[in-house]
Amino acid sequence: MRLGLNIDHIATLREARKIHEPDPLEAIFIAKNAGVDLITLHLREDRRHIHEDDVTSILKHAPLPVNAECAIDPEITKILCALKPFKVTLVPERRAEITTEGGLNLKHPKLQDTIKAYADCGIEVALFIDPSLENLQRALELGVGVVELHTGKFSNLFNTLYTSFKRHKNRLDLPEDNIALKNMLELSLQELAQSALKGQGMGLEVCAGHGLNYASVGLVAKLEGISELNIGHAIIARAVIMGLEKAIQSMQEAICAP
Ligand code: PXP
Repeated sequence: MRLGLNIDHIATLREARKIHEPDPLEAIFIAKNAGVDLITLHLREDRRHIHEDDVTSILKHAPLPVNAECAIDPEITKILCALKPFKVTLVPERRAEITTEGGLNLKHPKLQDTIKAYADCGIEVALFIDPSLENLQRALELGVGVVELHTGKFSNLFNTLYTSFKRHKNRLDLPEDNIALKNMLELSLQELAQSALKGQGMGLEVCAGHGLNYASVGLVAKLEGISELNIGHAIIARAVIMGLEKAIQSMQEAICAP
């Protein structure tokens, strides 16, 4: 199982101040030392976190392969075809969204041409899809070799259930609430399991990601057929907390010995 680290969240923190730190490229070197297999970044149309300059310098210096997520957009296609990440994952994009919502519309009129443009440049194309047999078949028809299953529905249900258990400890005697959610969660996991297996059987490489965290990842990681997980928010969120003590100590040293 390969682990892809999504570094958008580091750029998001940088953009809060619009200065030079934290530096996504510096983070990639740490990620490499820690055993991460690839880097995922999303060049959004609104450039809200990763900028074109980031992609340029990361592709020049990063010691890991780069998977660039992007929308179906001719300007982005032009940029990425010139920069040549090893893989492009096509995702839907809406300006108002906080993060990617749902899988790609596989009937998008420009999808086939966009896939061809990347393939002509020697870039592997993956489609970010909601887990279903229909979507896997459509991906095959479109001629891609890789899909990334959207784990967002599963993750949201898992988190709702998990936090509702925590938040409403005194309401655990109201099982109908949680049983309905549990059934939905199990169904969403089954959808992922079936799609992973079917996708693999069809000869597709099956990746997965979105919203996974330390509590939920094991359930997806053990599904047969998945070869790559792309995870960002949970890792960066944990890094902020785990690294805080060291960061404070370094600041105290800088104050004491300027
Ligand atoms: N995979 C895809 C296609 C995504 O759009 C994202 C979020 O940018 C991720 C994986 C990582 O999601 P998260 O940051 O929630 O772990």
